[in-house]
Amino acid sequence: MLYQSKIAGLGSYVPENVVTNDDLSKVMDTNDEWIQERTGIKERRHIKKGDGNSTATMGVKAAKIALERANIDKNDIDLIVFATLSPDYYFPGCGVQVQEMLGIHTCPALDVRNQCSGFIYGLSVADQFIKTGMYKNVLLIGSENHSGGLDMSTRGRSVSVIFGDGAGAAVLTRSNHNGQGILSTHLHSEGKHALELSLKGPSTMHWVPEIIEENPQEDIPYYPYMNGQFVFKNAIARFSEVIHEGLQENGLEVKDIDILIPHQANLRIAQFIQKKFQLKDEQVYNNIQKYGNTTAASIPIALTEAWEEGKIKEGDHVVLAAFGSGFTWGSAVISW
Ligand code: ACO
Repeated sequence: MLYQSKIAGLGSYVPENVVTNDDLSKVMDTNDEWIQERTGIKERRHIKKGDGNSTATMGVKAAKIALERANIDKNDIDLIVFATLSPDYYFPGCGVQVQEMLGIHTCPALDVRNQCSGFIYGLSVADQFIKTGMYKNVLLIGSENHSGGLDMSTRGRSVSVIFGDGAGAAVLTRSNHNGQGILSTHLHSEGKHALELSLKGPSTMHWVPEIIEENPQEDIPYYPYMNGQFVFKNAIARFSEVIHEGLQENGLEVKDIDILIPHQANLRIAQFIQKKFQLKDEQVYNNIQKYGNTTAASIPIALTEAWEEGKIKEGDHVVLAAFGSGFTWGSAVISW
């Protein structure tokens, strides 16, 4: 017998420190007009040194809210899934830190490395474990500390203005109502484009002394690299495909979407998808204007805010879709 999983509680956390486009223009050659026109972003949050925030601790803050809203005791969590590209340590992953910080019994903790698609990959993992009956309650977190690793000089401006810090969490549990919950997830990857959006080092292939020796100042591979326009073109194609895939699997049409929550990569990408699918404004949720692109945290932060604002009601068809580094992409269709 296969069970169904549902999201029982959501939570999010962003650092207090607001960084506006004007703030960025004081440290690099950029301006509010360029950033808003190309990305839709007005401001983002950055961890401030000494504020106690890290990828793991922000995840814990979001998780506490999600657990409380789900009304599930932390000791009833059977599995922690943590999605991030910016873990506190090279190893171990953030999942075990969360297990310790929340004081959960010795449950399994799994780290997912799928960047902007991380939350959807994690949702799919959680869903499979609940479906088979192996686990009943799964804590899923997406969290990022981008600001700790961005090139904040003019050299890094085309990447650094986009990303922000934050965390979102969901508690998944076995659904008691037939048909309510995760209807499907679809996941994809295309590794031939791995380096088009990547952070090469430090890594086992690019260790620190090697980086310093091999690379002139202008080409430092320990900051993220993004072939922006190439990523953009692939993103709009893959978003469309994977949303269609999810709808088709469930016999749904575009008009059946009550709310689409796309990964908050760039407002222009979301607007392109909205236009292509002819969705009304109220059918698409965006908050990139306030937080920038928070990678694995972007969907759970947006989902939490949409739910808090009363934009998701019982019985609604909620569609999640993401595309990012890897390339990886995916979608989830949920009957709320
Ligand atoms: N401020 C001012 N000027 C800038 C900035 C900036 N912050 N950044 C770049 N420019 C300049 C460039 O130098 C260039 O100048 P030039 O024409 O004199 O050479 C000009 O602006 C245009 O630069 P482009 O890079 O061509 O700008 P584009 O319109 O492509 O926008 C952007 C860049 C916003 C990055 C866009 O390509 C994009 O959003 N791509 C997709 C991002 C994405 O979806 N990522 C996936 C998720 S992330 C993840 O998975 C981790």
